[in-house]
Amino acid sequence: MTKPTHSRREFVAATATAAALGVFGTAGLSAVSAFATPQPQPFVPAAGLIPYGSAVRAGALESDPAYREAIVANCQMVVAEGEMKWADIRPARGEYRFEKADAIIDFARQNRLEVRGHTLAWYGGLPDWTNEISSRAEAERELVDHIKTVVSRYRGVIPSWDVVNEPLVDFPESAASLRPSVWTRQLGPDYLSIALRTTAAVDPAARLVLNEYDVEFKGPRFAARRKALLQLLRSLRDKDVPLHGVGLQAHLFADRDIDRDGLQAFLNELAALRLDVLITELDVVDYELPGKVSERDALVARKAGEFLQAVCDVVRPKAILTWGLSDRYTWVPIYFKRPDGMPNRPLPFDADLKRKPLFDVIEQFRRRPA
Ligand code: G3I
Repeated sequence: MTKPTHSRREFVAATATAAALGVFGTAGLSAVSAFATPQPQPFVPAAGLIPYGSAVRAGALESDPAYREAIVANCQMVVAEGEMKWADIRPARGEYRFEKADAIIDFARQNRLEVRGHTLAWYGGLPDWTNEISSRAEAERELVDHIKTVVSRYRGVIPSWDVVNEPLVDFPESAASLRPSVWTRQLGPDYLSIALRTTAAVDPAARLVLNEYDVEFKGPRFAARRKALLQLLRSLRDKDVPLHGVGLQAHLFADRDIDRDGLQAFLNELAALRLDVLITELDVVDYELPGKVSERDALVARKAGEFLQAVCDVVRPKAILTWGLSDRYTWVPIYFKRPDGMPNRPLPFDADLKRKPLFDVIEQFRRRPA
């Protein structure tokens, strides 16, 4: 269920993008260089655009009309930032609470937005009662029951799920280096195939995605993560476990270089495995960037542009989503507050819902002809 992009909005956006890149490219050439050289943007029919979307919060959608309108005006898809995680859906054992998730589904339906599902099997976002799960049989029963209940509720409404989220430890040695959780403790690596097979059985039409972070950068740690993830994906494929795509979360960091060669080699391996690529949680953690807003915004856009250039030069992502639309609602300060106390600016629109260069960059790449 994808909302056809309004031709007027597309035309206006394309014009604004070209203009912004023009001004932006000239004014900020030192800061943005490479990809921002103003080029006439070929008009790509809406059908040919890479869909853009954002993580959303049910509470903000309800209480913040300007935010809600900005989502509707600029997104073709949304994903619940938290409302479809175990902690929100399963606050108590044996209880399912769908009000917040349903509110996002209703909002998406009213505004013809596609919804991505996030997430079914993760070490995080779990309610405390899951710590009481103490056997393999119990863990499998809870995981399978959760997936059957949630995925069947949204069958035909959510066409793409982050079934498995962040399976690897931060410094993996191999595919066996799985992040400890109730699932690995009780089920070992089988939790991945149980989650994926159950989702496929409940909704055979759903696209099943494994979502991971920190595979975008230069450095031995990130190369090891790409290698371990590839090993994990191949092991799933060798066991005929259903999987259709990989989500690159793309939480970028200003002080980390994009590993163009390493990332492209990884993406070519995904293509060889016939796995789709989605950019699922793009933002740029800016806590170490200069305080001057115009300079910081340009550097954020440049970092994202370098990443999108590296990806889009080898594959066509099925979607580009940012982990929030506006700096008004971002997770980043939870862990990465700026030492100067200024608000973080990781997202395409600022806290006043003013469009930023990052949005122009995303628009540029989603328009690239297939
Ligand atoms: O809703 C409660 C509120 O009632 C309570 O007063 C408050 C203080 O304890 O917590 C609120 O819940 C918080 C929730 O976000 C809603 O804001 C949780 O503590 C907090 O842990 C939770 O953080 C989320 C985090 O995932 C864990 O679920 C972030 O918002 C969310 O952006 C983040 O998203 C993750 C993706 O799922 C996976 N990839 C990384 C990404 C960023 O960490």
